[in-house]
Order: sequence, then C-alpha cells, then structure tokens
Amino acid sequence: MWNKVQETVNYLKNIVSETPKYGIILGSGLGDLVNEVNITHTIPYTAIPNFPVSTVKGHQGALVFGHIGDVFIMMLQGRFHYYEGYSMQEVTFPVRVMKQLGINKMVVSNASGGVNPDFVVGDVMLLKDHINQFPEHPLRGHNDERFGPRFVNMSEPYDKKMIAKAKVIANTSGIDIKEGIYLGLQGPTFETLAEYVMVKKLGADAVGMSTVPEVIVAKHMDMQCFGISIITDIGSEDEIGEINHQEVLEAANAATPKVSKLVSELIKQF
Ligand code: HPA
Repeated sequence: MWNKVQETVNYLKNIVSETPKYGIILGSGLGDLVNEVNITHTIPYTAIPNFPVSTVKGHQGALVFGHIGDVFIMMLQGRFHYYEGYSMQEVTFPVRVMKQLGINKMVVSNASGGVNPDFVVGDVMLLKDHINQFPEHPLRGHNDERFGPRFVNMSEPYDKKMIAKAKVIANTSGIDIKEGIYLGLQGPTFETLAEYVMVKKLGADAVGMSTVPEVIVAKHMDMQCFGISIITDIGSEDEIGEINHQEVLEAANAATPKVSKLVSELIKQF
C-alpha cells in the first residue's frame, strides 16, 4: 500500500507543482461544487496509477486541482463506494494519497436519509460524529506505522473548530443548517422502515452509504475532517416512500448551492 500511494503521489506531483491545503470528496449530486473551483488540472481517474475507477451514475470520476479563493485544493469528483465492490483499501486509497501529497484537511460531502423528526428533505446537516456500521473496517489487518498508529483515537472525528467556523458562516450567510450523527451502512439497498427505526434507536440522525471509511482513514493519518450531508429523503413511519436514486440526486442538486457556499467560504476562511 505504502509504495502504491507513493507511486500515485509521484505521478500527481509531476503534473501539479503546488501543494493543496484541502482535499474534498464530493458525494452524490454534489458535483456542482466543482463550479466554485478555479480549475488548474482535471485528471481522469483512469489516467492515475493505482486509482480505482468510479462506476455510479452521477459520479464523474476525475481528480480536480484548483483554487477556491486563494486556497489550492484537490477535489475528488466521484468517490468509491464499498457497495460497488471495492475493498475498503480501494475506497480509502484517495485519502492516503491526499495525506502523502501534504494535505491535512479533508472535507467530505454526501447524501443521506434523515431519521431525526426535525429534518426535512433538502436540509443540510453538519456531521458532528458518526457510527460505523460497515461490515468491514478499513484499518483491519497489518498496520503500517508510516501511515499512523494501530489504535486510532476517534474522539474528534469531525473537527470542532471547523464545525464552529461553518456555523458562523451559515449564520452570517442566512443558511439554515442542522447538526447530527451520521450512521454508515454498506448499502446498496435503501433502508427498510424497520432499519430506519433501528438507525434512529442507535442514536443517529441520518444514514448513508459512504464517508465513514474515508474519515476513519483520515483520522488514522491525523487529518482534520469536516463532513456535510444533504438530507435527500426521510425514513420515518409517516414519510417513508419509494425513494430512488433519481430522487436522491434531485434533492441533493437542489441543496447544492447552500453546500457550495458553506464549503467554499469555510475553505477560504479556515
Ligand atoms: N439511506 C442510505 N443512503 C442514502 C439515503 C438513505 O435513505 N439517502 C441518500 N443516501
């Protein structure tokens, strides 16, 4: 793994000379965030050594480098989901690459199903914590100390200072935000009503199929993380409907301007 990451990093460093400050992972329907970036390089995943290739509709599959304001960033346009069949090492490979490129701050976005009764479709939720319910752990197996320690402290998976800053920005920009706990399941099925009830009982506010593996690996390497989720559907007795991927994408797209504004300002100001 270490050598593979170095190979990918060397390839990217030959193309991109500036060191990004932020790594950003775009989730379903959040592709428009790329419009906030003054792009210097777009590199398709297919061209990058050791990179997995994204298969989901609505995910474009390119690494984008560029500036948000004065801040140089690297953006994953399309992430790798466990449900696509990738191993946890593949899912989290880009995060390893981020850190070895010199990036210490990561922003992850996703779409999720809300189980908190105060949530409505289109809400934007800042992740204050997560519950890992994936069937496989990205750090299982031999630990390479060059990446990080065997036993990883997860007391602050989502950086409190970044959350506080995002709240100030939301306040001053008139963006309504929620805060909550994200529970990660493998998917690819959406939850049954009984499963949404379980998610709520376990103490989460929203459920999705990503983010948790990437944040675990980022914390392994002592990165600061910021997570933001668009509530694209509601899992409750009153509201559970025939949720499908198209609806998720549409709801996410509708909320993208709010997320774009929040994330781009956070990156400029933090
Ligand atoms: N469940 C899981 N993943 C999701 C959902 C959901 O309801 N909505 C968007 N991604």
